Amino acid sequence: TDSVITIDPGFKNTGSCESAITFLDGEKGILRYRGYPIEQLAEQATFLEVSYALIFGDLPTTDQLKKFKQDICDQSILDEDVRKIVEAFPKSAHPMGVISSLTSALTAFNPSSVNVNSEEDMYKAIVKILGKFPVLVAWTMRKKQGLPLDYGDCNLGYVENMYKMMFKQPNKEFVTNDIVVEALNKLLILHADHEQNCSTSTVRIAGSSHAGLFASLSAGISALWGPLHGGANQAVLEMLEAIKADGGDTKKYMAKAKDKDDPFRLMGFGHRVYKNFDPRAKIIKKAADEVLNDLGVEDPILAIAKGLEQEALNDPYFVDRKLYPNVDFYSGIIYRAMGIPVEMFTVMFALGRLPGWIAQWREMRLNKEPIGRPRQIYVGKTTRDFVDIDKR
Ligand code: SDX
Repeated sequence: TDSVITIDPGFKNTGSCESAITFLDGEKGILRYRGYPIEQLAEQATFLEVSYALIFGDLPTTDQLKKFKQDICDQSILDEDVRKIVEAFPKSAHPMGVISSLTSALTAFNPSSVNVNSEEDMYKAIVKILGKFPVLVAWTMRKKQGLPLDYGDCNLGYVENMYKMMFKQPNKEFVTNDIVVEALNKLLILHADHEQNCSTSTVRIAGSSHAGLFASLSAGISALWGPLHGGANQAVLEMLEAIKADGGDTKKYMAKAKDKDDPFRLMGFGHRVYKNFDPRAKIIKKAADEVLNDLGVEDPILAIAKGLEQEALNDPYFVDRKLYPNVDFYSGIIYRAMGIPVEMFTVMFALGRLPGWIAQWREMRLNKEPIGRPRQIYVGKTTRDFVDIDKR
C-alpha cells in the first residue's frame, strides 16, 4: 500500500542509516571518528592509523598496523595498462574526472574486487584501493605537469610515500620535507570521514546495489567534485584570487554573497550540519599559519581569507544564518603552499575521504542494508494517448 510519502529536499531532516563510524554535533561543533576526538587524532595519530580505526572500529595495535601497512604495500603497484589510460587523457582534463574514471577502471584489472561477500574478500579489495589510490592521485597530478609516472617507496610512511610520489623530481635525489608530510598527515586525517555527507551517501547508495567497492567509490568521487561539496576548496582559492585581483575588495564579494539575485556564494562558508564553527576549520586555520611560516611562504591570499572571515563573522546576514568557515575555507591555502596545483585540491579531499568512504561502504554491506530506492510524489501529466508525429 502507498504509505504517506513526505518529500524532504536535500534530505535535511532524513536519516538514511544507523552508523557507528563518525559522530557530529552541529550545534557544539564536535567531530569524533569511532569516538576519538579529531583534535587528538589530528595532533597525535597517523593517517594510516585513523584509516584503520575508521574501517575496522578501533585504533590498531602495533602488529595490526604493521600487517595493514604491509598488505597495502603489497598492493601499491598498478597494471602497466593503467598508464595508457592516464596518458589518453588530455592535459586539460580536470583531475577529478581523471581520478573517478581511473578508480572505476581499476575494476577491470581487479575483477575479484567486485563480488565481495565475505569480510576476507572485502579486506582484499580494501587494501587494494588503499595501495593503488595514492599512486593514481600522484599520476593524475604528474600527468598534468608532464612528469614521469612512476612509484615511490611503500616502505616509507604511508603519507611520506604519497609526498614522494607526488613531488619527487627526475634526476634529483629525493629529500622528504617533514613540514609538508606532517601537514599533509593532519589534513588527510581531518578530511577522513564526515557521516552521511553528499559523497558518502552516494557511495552507500551505489554500494547498496552491490556494485563493487571501486565503482561505488568512483560514484562518490563524482559527487564530491561539485563546488557545493568538496569542489569548494578549489572554488575558495579561485574566489580569493578574484578578490585579490579586485584590489582586495572583500566588501564587494560580501554584497554579492548576500544578493539573492546573484548566484555567487561565499565559498568555504556555511554547512548543512555545523551551525557553529566547523571544528576542522579551526585546526586547519591554525595549521595554515604554522605551515606557511615554517615553509617561509608569504601568501597575501591568507590575509584576504582572514579579512573575509572577520567580516562575515560580524555580518548579520551570515550571523543570522549561522554561516561559519567550513573545512574547505583554509585547506587550499596550505595545499598551495605545498606546491599542489589548485585543480588538484578536490582530489586531495578525495584522498583524505577515501578511508571514510570505505568504512561507510563496509558498514552498509556488513549490515546487509537493502538497496536504496526512495519514492516520489508524482506531479506530471495525467494519462493521455499517443499522437502520431504528423498530428503533433
Ligand atoms: C563540504 O555535508 C558535509 O559534511 C560536507 C563536508 C564533508 O566533510 O563532507 O563538510 C564538506 O562540502 C563543506 C561545504 C563546502 N561547500 C561550500 O563551501 C559552498 C558554499 N556553501 C553553501 O553552498 C552551503 O552553505 C552548503 C551547501 C554548504 C550548505 O547548504 P544548505 O545546508 O543546503 O543551506 P542553504 O543552501 O539552504 O542555505 C541556507 C541559507 C540560504 O539563505 P536563505 O534562502 O535562508 O535566505 O544560507 C544561505 C543561503 O542562501 N547561504 C549562503 C551560503 N551558504 C548558505 N549565502 C552565502 N554564502 C554561502 N556560502
